[in-house]
Amino acid sequence: MNPETQTIRTREQMTERYFETLCQMIRSQAYRELAASQCFAYALRHVPTLGYKRKVLEHVAEELEHYEICVGLWNQIGGPGDLDAICHARLAEGAVPLIDSFLELGAAQFLYDCASAYQLREYENSTFDPYCEVVGKILEEEEGHESFGAEVLIEHCRDESCRPEAQALFDKWLAVSLRSFGRPDSEGSRYAISVGLKTRDGAAIQQDYVDGLKPTMRLCGLRFPDLEKLGVEIAPDLDLSF
Ligand SMILES: [Fe+2]
Ligand SMILES: [Fe+2]
Repeated sequence: MNPETQTIRTREQMTERYFETLCQMIRSQAYRELAASQCFAYALRHVPTLGYKRKVLEHVAEELEHYEICVGLWNQIGGPGDLDAICHARLAEGAVPLIDSFLELGAAQFLYDCASAYQLREYENSTFDPYCEVVGKILEEEEGHESFGAEVLIEHCRDESCRPEAQALFDKWLAVSLRSFGRPDSEGSRYAISVGLKTRDGAAIQQDYVDGLKPTMRLCGLRFPDLEKLGVEIAPDLDLSF
């Protein structure tokens, strides 16, 4: 049996390649969690009611907790450098857009959070045991964020005059979200699958992700944009039909 497909808990049990791949996965997730918490906190000024504000604040706190869990995992395995500093530096580069309206917050939560959850689901049976232990709790909370985003989108799209704006924000956040899956079928991804760090390649997960968007898109009257024009690299056989 390949020793790398057995359960792993400590740095000593990892090969160098396994360690580096795991570090990269934790770093990416930590960044996505921090970006989400910061975006949602920034968007609070656009949230129109007390009830919604409480909800969004809860989500901000949950994203920060997810981020903290990632930092904990990083420190547990002795990842190189200060992950908190690394993520804040990357965020300062401005790769994740700021949110300018309540409708945009809905689009971001529906699309970006949901993409993050699909990627996390692949770690539920990770050979790195500490990951399996935390993923369930994070996923439960992410589902709440995603359904909140869908609710906001659906509510706005009842008014047909809102739809062009909703479509533009949908396109914007779909592009950001699809990029977060990484390049389809990369060598690094094949390695991560071979040692059981994740189950499937980003290309397969992207298909599940876009399929999961379709019911809400139908309710909202939204369409998939031309992703090539948006400069997004996707798997060539990604099925965007309804
Ligand atoms: Fe999260
Ligand atoms: Fe979230």
